[in-house]
Amino acid sequence: MAEDAWDLLVVGSGAAGLSLALQVAELKPGARVAVLAKGALDEGSTRYAQGGVAAVLDPSDSTESHLHDTLDAGAGLCNVEAVRFVVEHARAAIDWLIDQGVEFDRQGSDYHLTREGGHSHRRVIHAADATGRAVEMTLVERLRASGVKVFERHNLVDVIRERLPGNQRGRAIGAYVLDRDAGCVTTFPARAVALATGGASRVYLYSTNPDGSTGDGIAAAWRAGCRVGNMEFSQFHPTCLFHPKAKSFLITEAVRGEGGRLLRPDGTRFMDDYDPRGELAPRDIVARAIDDTMKRLGCECVYLDISHKPAEFIRAHFPTVHAECLRFGIDITREPIPVVPAAHYTCGGVLTDLNGRTDVDGLYAVGEVACTGLHGANRLASNSLLECLVFGAAAARDVAHRLSELPPPTAIAPWDESWVADSDELVVVAHNWEEVRRFMWDYVGIVRSTKRLERAKHRVKLLLDEIDAYYGSFRVTSDLLELRNIAMVADLIVRSALARKESRGLHYTIDFPALDAIAPVQNTVLVPKHFSARRGA
Ligand code: FAD
Ligand code: SIN
Repeated sequence: MAEDAWDLLVVGSGAAGLSLALQVAELKPGARVAVLAKGALDEGSTRYAQGGVAAVLDPSDSTESHLHDTLDAGAGLCNVEAVRFVVEHARAAIDWLIDQGVEFDRQGSDYHLTREGGHSHRRVIHAADATGRAVEMTLVERLRASGVKVFERHNLVDVIRERLPGNQRGRAIGAYVLDRDAGCVTTFPARAVALATGGASRVYLYSTNPDGSTGDGIAAAWRAGCRVGNMEFSQFHPTCLFHPKAKSFLITEAVRGEGGRLLRPDGTRFMDDYDPRGELAPRDIVARAIDDTMKRLGCECVYLDISHKPAEFIRAHFPTVHAECLRFGIDITREPIPVVPAAHYTCGGVLTDLNGRTDVDGLYAVGEVACTGLHGANRLASNSLLECLVFGAAAARDVAHRLSELPPPTAIAPWDESWVADSDELVVVAHNWEEVRRFMWDYVGIVRSTKRLERAKHRVKLLLDEIDAYYGSFRVTSDLLELRNIAMVADLIVRSALARKESRGLHYTIDFPALDAIAPVQNTVLVPKHFSARRGA
């Protein structure tokens, strides 16, 4: 075994990666666990989460109701077993967060629960409108105090699989990692590797996500031989601040949960024309209604108005949104907020079982990178942080249980850079980045058509060839790695969207505008070229 092999290498430090790493460290004291983050440890979508975490905590609510709402939003594609697993483990996940020190908002002796679209009860526990920050900062603090080793500014390049006779590939035994400060790729051997790299919403021009959501884990798992599922279901959040200087700042759905109304520019409401649940319909419906209203009226945004509520209530419940809007000259206690939809969440991802195991033995995927079956064709609001926590804990139990049986990694070939040079054309990377995001926004957005998807397919093919040639000739940089991944993910999204000949959940195409009532209801599963089903336990 290589001297410096890790027991577990966790790639990613959001809610998923941190809960997994912390719980393995708790369950297996002395285990050698490393966490990689491609930027600062606390940077990722988790930190920006606003609304909260869905969980049944009110005695008048029930897990059956949470299950039902999740299945309803998922439009027939959820895996019922996965949904049940998550909703039944929700309370334990919240208790764990509270034990770690997360301080949720209280109302008297109980926790305050807010409401979001698609939920039939108040069931979203939160820390004002900055729940993600509270979760991330608390878990980061706990990690820093644990024995887990942290590597910031380290990018996963690829997962390494064991070489078997006959050119076969075996289990995951580590990763190649770019140390951004040293500018070189190093090897991280490990008994088990977990991808917790978040989603891929930055594949779109306008996104609520931070820059790092480039689908690196999905692309790496695909290259490593894992199947990916349901990539056509890109979730667009209905309400992002529309302002030339605001970088797609999210206006939490809890604003609508607490009575916020969506308005046309003339001040009239429109959601009741689209769904009897009005502003609290699931997000796919609200985002499409906004898109339709904007197209019909030729307006560049719609408005979200909560100003009919007392100013004190607004400031107490939405301090982050209030302060951020004020920075742009909008006082939400007195006037409506201009909003537009933006890419928000990747419902599809690397296929896993209920322990977070992927198709490759020893390789786990947890959090937004994974496709567990919880979300189906559309994620219910605030079910994502919950998924990170529940599967983080499940994978931790599985890893802890399996560590003694996972053999140490065998010899790994070092990264070979003898055939590459420093890039002399960085502008190509920047240009291709812009191109992918723009055609994904224009052709693979909220409303799709076969013609536009075919156009996107053609563009992505050209880009993939160009990027491949580039990747083969030049020393890797973080930007180049992200570009390679985002183009690969764009390809997976377009292929999945073309494969679905109906409109379901988040995937809406004008060529097949209804559900396919005849064909069996199916997930879209893409199988990589060198797929071999997992062997071993
Ligand atoms: P992230 O938190 O995104 O973390 C990804 C990690 O992976 C980062 O540490 C990053 O550095 C690392 N990483 C990525 N690629 C690499 C690489 N190549 N090498 C090394 N490290 C890498 N969900 C809810 O349930 N409730 C909410 O209220 C809510 N609000 C949201 C608001 C906003 C603005 C956004 C953007 C999302 C929101 N979501 C919400 C969704 C939710 O926050 C995310 O789905 C969830 O936080 C994802 O957590 P994660 O741990 O999977 O990934
Ligand atoms: C929000 O606060 O509106 C985001 C909730 C989510 O994405 O689940």
